[in-house]
Amino acid sequence: MDLMEYQAKELFAKHGVPGTLGVVAHTPAEARAAAEKLGVVVVKAQVKAGGRGKAGGVKLAKTPDEAEQHAEAILGMDIKGHTVHRVLVAPGASIEEEYYFSFLLDRANRNYLCIASVEGGVEIEEVAKTNPDAVKKIAIDPGTGVDEAKARAIVAEAKFPEALVDQAVQTVLALWKVFVEEDATLVEVNPLARLTGDKLEALDGKVSLDANADFRHPDHEQFELGDETDPLEAAAKEKNLNYVKLDGQVGIIGNGAGLVMSTLDVVAYAGEKHGGVKPANFLDIGGGANAQVMADGLHIILGDEQVKSVFVNVFGGITACDQVANGIKGALEILGDEATKPLVVRLDGNNVEAGRQILQDLAHPLVTMVDTMDGAADKAAELANA
Ligand SMILES: Nc1ncnc2c1ncn2[C@@H]1O[C@H](COP(=O)(O)OP(=O)(O)O)[C@@H](O)[C@H]1O
Ligand SMILES: [Mg+2]
Repeated sequence: MDLMEYQAKELFAKHGVPGTLGVVAHTPAEARAAAEKLGVVVVKAQVKAGGRGKAGGVKLAKTPDEAEQHAEAILGMDIKGHTVHRVLVAPGASIEEEYYFSFLLDRANRNYLCIASVEGGVEIEEVAKTNPDAVKKIAIDPGTGVDEAKARAIVAEAKFPEALVDQAVQTVLALWKVFVEEDATLVEVNPLARLTGDKLEALDGKVSLDANADFRHPDHEQFELGDETDPLEAAAKEKNLNYVKLDGQVGIIGNGAGLVMSTLDVVAYAGEKHGGVKPANFLDIGGGANAQVMADGLHIILGDEQVKSVFVNVFGGITACDQVANGIKGALEILGDEATKPLVVRLDGNNVEAGRQILQDLAHPLVTMVDTMDGAADKAAELANA
């Protein structure tokens, strides 16, 4: 789960990372009230996307009037496909320099990685391209983690200014605590800022929590925000389906995460020949593909307006192909008029002949059967592009 800035900062505060919390506002009036208490503030869009500053979602307000106006403009704004439902009203800081700092899970190297740069701020991506030497990457041994000596080594390598070294070491140790104790896969601060008077503070925060460790953190449940969850993802979760919304046009249903992942690949590949169509989602219906589960899955995928065709890719195992075929048949009955988009079905594995026979006998106008996975992907991509 990715956290909003204000949520990340709550975890920062819990573990002693220097910074101020500010006040979350849902209306311009609330932003005004917060500014009346805080003085000069920055009104900051809270969305799960970076680059808010560049998108006009971070604005300085010298008076409560200005804070109200900025909140008015920022609330409801769309930033990279995310609607702003709340703003953080944070005390305005007097910034001298901006640094970048993060801990992350380095999947490629099966390790943890620290990335630090004294040339942080909103141009960090640019710095990484034009001056990669200014962005230090330091591997962290998961066995030993970050102790004070390691923190000092990191601070030295990143070349934090002399006057800030001790604060930087304490901040690095606190951020490591956030990373480990909260089971995060990413903890990022940009900017970690040098304020007037040589004070170091985290002015932004980005944290991704590892959902596999949720059982250890009942308190993380508070970070789930109803108004920020995709309604289809919420509906899928309620039905215990593993569903992830993607951006393309071909809806995908499969049984087993491995099969669904390779289905995404073949559809993306086939799509190159058909106007660049792409998978619209990941939906794993798991082992028990009965009519209800299939209907629930189809219902969710058909509810996505971007979907133009659906590819049902099932390999019969414990749940045999005839059961799956009956599931599809039953799902189409349950859905009735709601089923309006073409379905390409590929069945293979246990009891394949019986399964295919059921769908042949059904002769549903929306259903096309294709025997191979590549052939079915091609057909689904073609239909999505029609
Ligand atoms: N509390 C603050 N006081 C003053 N300036 C701020 C404050 N918070 C952010 N800024 C400025 O706005 C920029 C963008 O804000 P940030 O929180 O990093 O959002 P994003 O990374 O999404 O653009 C920062 O690099 C900093 O220069
Ligand atoms: Mg930032």
